[in-house]
Amino acid sequence: MSGYPGVLITAEGLDGSGKTTAFDNAFEYFSKKYPNMLVRFRDPGSIKNLEDICEEIREMLLYHRKENSNWTEFYLFVASRAQLVDKYLVPNLKEGKIVFLDRFYDSTIAFQGFGNGIPIDTILYDNGNVLQGTEPDLTLLYDLPVDIALKRMAEDKNKKLTDFDKGTKDFHQRVWEGYQYVADKYQDRVKIIDSTKPKKEVGDLTIKIIEEFLENYFKAH
Ligand SMILES: Nc1ncnc2c1ncn2[C@@H]1O[C@H](COP(=O)(O)OP(=O)(O)OP(=O)(O)O)[C@@H](O)[C@H]1O
Ligand SMILES: [Mg+2]
Repeated sequence: MSGYPGVLITAEGLDGSGKTTAFDNAFEYFSKKYPNMLVRFRDPGSIKNLEDICEEIREMLLYHRKENSNWTEFYLFVASRAQLVDKYLVPNLKEGKIVFLDRFYDSTIAFQGFGNGIPIDTILYDNGNVLQGTEPDLTLLYDLPVDIALKRMAEDKNKKLTDFDKGTKDFHQRVWEGYQYVADKYQDRVKIIDSTKPKKEVGDLTIKIIEEFLENYFKAH
């Protein structure tokens, strides 16, 4: 729980697992249901096409990865997140907004921790320094076998492949295991969604889970 009046909902999963597709659909639905209450960001970064330091760091991370050592990469994620938290998440959560966030620190556990071998304790400690209490209230984990995720990305004509997408199958398999660790560690907030199901089913389930969560949340607050 974030401890702020607002609600923080994150989407997690492998590259190509369907996070953005499901969130686009849910964001549209809940923007109508709760007018002026929803905002949406992405991590790393902030808002697509916005010129800020978060998006500049995102560019360095996603398209210049080969030049970055694992530690440089890790601290760039932390740096981008520190700014995202301070400039966007905290103010919106203080105002009581429903914040949709495409990836957050669970991705760092999975990719930089399990994928690249940065110690999990270090990740949790350094990440904790910049969070300001913005723990997710609800995390939707789009679960998909690595083979299918890689296939979907290869077939996605609109996608500009990032350096992460070009990682080896072994790398993505370790990331998948990282997400199992996340699901186990944060059972209270993580809901696993079977992303092998058709888009409509995944979209409907996403809305159902968020709807139930928000109804309970608003009853309690
Ligand atoms: N349930 C689904 N069934 C089949 N294809 C899907 C499904 N959900 C998404 N896709 C397709 O898979 C591709 C990847 O989806 P999407 O961009 O939403 O994934 P993502 O998790 O946001 O990936 P990334 O981490 O790279 O941003 C897209 O071409 C999308 O249309
Ligand atoms: Mg996406």
